[in-house]
Amino acid sequence: MFKVIANTQLSPNVWRLDVMAPRIAKIRKAGQFVIVCKGEGSERVPLTIANADPKEGWITLVIQAVGKSTRELVETQVGEFIRDISGPLGKPTELAEPGSKAICVGGGVGTGVVHPIAQALHARGVKVVSVIGGRSKQWVFFEPELKKCGEVVVCTDDGSYGRKGFVTDAVKDQLEAGGISTVYAVGPVPMMRAISNLTKQYGVHTIVSLNPVMVDGTGMCGGCRVNVGGETKFACVDGPEFDAHQVDFETLMDRLGIYKTQEKEKLEEPRCHCQHQTPQQS
Ligand code: NAD
Ligand code: FES
Repeated sequence: MFKVIANTQLSPNVWRLDVMAPRIAKIRKAGQFVIVCKGEGSERVPLTIANADPKEGWITLVIQAVGKSTRELVETQVGEFIRDISGPLGKPTELAEPGSKAICVGGGVGTGVVHPIAQALHARGVKVVSVIGGRSKQWVFFEPELKKCGEVVVCTDDGSYGRKGFVTDAVKDQLEAGGISTVYAVGPVPMMRAISNLTKQYGVHTIVSLNPVMVDGTGMCGGCRVNVGGETKFACVDGPEFDAHQVDFETLMDRLGIYKTQEKEKLEEPRCHCQHQTPQQS
């Protein structure tokens, strides 16, 4: 059982849960995730470890409430418990060389996923510029946390805070200025595809964190398969982070689209025989 020690709403549909999980807090690395199951009969949800304190033993989960299971999680009150947290899972982030300069791009809820990457880069002596975006001011979060890692550029679609426009516009300016070794991008698939197309033009190595549907999280079910460099990879064990320039974003969008259409039509959410299900979020 894992005790919730803080529950904070970050944007209209995103919450931060700090949960006591001492073993995971001690060994997790940037880029890794956990699979969370709230209680008996609940579905399994993959979530990136957005922060952790190995001394105090807590981890941070950033959760977008998109369906029944994620709503159950964000409704967990301080002092209440989550039954299962499995992990850390997935490969740690490939970190840029000390002394180089990297851009960490977070679109919407992806900002929570890019935060541990920015932390790890900063700790390693990489100069970090974070570019984060939301639909409007109320959708922007983690600006103070990311400021601890370096410069932060905030973008909003409607211009209500920071720079008006998509994160891609601000990233283009950074690339034009030069000196960038690596770009890390996490957010909606169209955003990651747009960043990938942009950085290709500048020949800058780019890493994205993919969010296909996950079921077991151990490489057994094939639910999270993605096409990278013409090969089938499993995001849960081979990723979730991949070289953006090798990712087949069209196939990923098609596969995610299938589940979104099912959701819209109020069909059953994807399940395996053992009742496990995951929404399209990490
Ligand atoms: P959103 O739609 O509000 O977009 C957030 C920001 O991303 C925008 O403000 C903009 O700056 C940028 N953006 C969006 N579309 C873009 C485009 N076509 N080109 C350039 N920039 C663009 O995001 P949200 O509602 O917070 O995110 C929800 C989506 O993110 C879901 O589809 C979810 O599955 C996905 N997601 C991905 C990950 C991951 O690990 N990649 C993690 C969590 C959620
Ligand atoms: Fe990756 Fe099952 S979730 S193989």
